[in-house]
Amino acid sequence: MDPSTASDVLTVHGGTALSGEVRVRGAKNLVPKAMVAALLGHGTSVLHNVPDISDVRIVTGLLEAHGVSVTRGADPDTLVLDPASVERASDAAVEAHAGTSRIPVLFCGPLLHRLGRAFIPDLGGCKIGDRPIDFHLDALRAFGAVVEKRPEGLLISAPERLRGTHIRLPYPSVGATEQVLLTAVLAEGVTELSNAATEPEIVDLIAVLQKMGAIISVHNDRVVRIIGVDRLDGFTHRSLPDRLETASWACAALATGGDIRVVGAQQGEMMTFLNVFRRIGGDFEVDDTPGQESIRFWHSGGQMRALALETDVHPGLSTDWQQPLVVALTQANGLSIVHETVYEQRLGFTEALNRMGAQIQLYRECLGGSACRFGQRNFQHSAVISGPTKLHGAELTIPDLRAGFSYLIAALAAQGTSTVHGISLIHRGYEDFEAKLSALGADFEMGVAG
Ligand code: EPZ
Repeated sequence: MDPSTASDVLTVHGGTALSGEVRVRGAKNLVPKAMVAALLGHGTSVLHNVPDISDVRIVTGLLEAHGVSVTRGADPDTLVLDPASVERASDAAVEAHAGTSRIPVLFCGPLLHRLGRAFIPDLGGCKIGDRPIDFHLDALRAFGAVVEKRPEGLLISAPERLRGTHIRLPYPSVGATEQVLLTAVLAEGVTELSNAATEPEIVDLIAVLQKMGAIISVHNDRVVRIIGVDRLDGFTHRSLPDRLETASWACAALATGGDIRVVGAQQGEMMTFLNVFRRIGGDFEVDDTPGQESIRFWHSGGQMRALALETDVHPGLSTDWQQPLVVALTQANGLSIVHETVYEQRLGFTEALNRMGAQIQLYRECLGGSACRFGQRNFQHSAVISGPTKLHGAELTIPDLRAGFSYLIAALAAQGTSTVHGISLIHRGYEDFEAKLSALGADFEMGVAG
């Protein structure tokens, strides 16, 4: 087998209860955005707790293409970003770097302020739904930007200084909220954003921008007000820990009957997940001693309990916790219901779990919760899981980041051997996961066995 593809395959021998310790660093859904925010500053920015994941490498390439110097600090998980010589990048360079990520869309605001122009190539990102950027473009137009469709992508320009405005998002989109924040901070006048996303990563981005000199206030009912300023400086910031990676390891402990301490994890951002984890039959212990924060997750040994879950925007159950939880629920006693309300196509990965012996039925109706945007729209966005079922090894091909990690959990919980293809997708959001799996006693090898 061609070595490049061999390095993209993992052979997993299941049946081991994972136990031990792993470390999580900064959030995949904050760090790249903070790196983009550095473009807004007249001064060097320093970002701590940066994970070594491919999304960070993609943004580093995009920033360097725009003349930003990105270097490692004294600590290996620190980045120093210097935007002193920001310049226009060729559209080809942007396209080449963009590849599989959606991040280029968030460069718009900072580049419009610095260069009066921004180019967005066709965006990548996980295939978990249509994922349009209409909210982003409507917001940019509301600030006074001009959006031009080109064969190779979108050209956005700002004939004059962007002006503060009123924006109401049709849905509390994380990306569109970040778009407005990264644009409004240097726009002329006040921007009022309503129906904003309030995820912990959004709050951390607001903290970054405030450190740069921005004036941003968060009000009740998802209203955020930004008073534009004329100049921003650099920031020094430590990213919040990755609550999505933390939950993935927690589900691995549950599904394999193991015990994992996640060093670096914090309770604050994980309340909703921790409640669900306990209701399913897991247990956890929080250590919030400054400097040695961690959460230990273990299977309490009893019968796991089936549940009805519904994903939602924060503070609801994050959609990025859904797939690892579904794998854990295949081992729970009874009928579980999962209603995915954030993405219309994020349950397709269950087909492979059924090939491993799970019993998961998909439905177009809004099951187990309130009606959502996808009801009556022909999307299989609800699942009924009947458990517990014995899982056995299978050939698996990873469709997206979280499904990828979930397949690893299923393969580790299964009897027999699984071959998992496309593991490079997992590197997008999970730092060093192979070494962590080894540290937890997982039995696997790179490439195809034999
Ligand atoms: C961010 O994606 C995260 N990605 C996603 O994590 C996460 O699932 C999502 O927020 C929701 O929490 C990053 O931060 C890089 P959205 P984003 O805009 O910003 C619709 C992971 O696994 N929508 O909140 O792209 C959209 O189609 C990834 O870590 C529009 O219709 O998500 C979706 O149904 C996956 N038009 C919903 O809103 C728009 O212009 C939520 O999307 C924008 C969004």
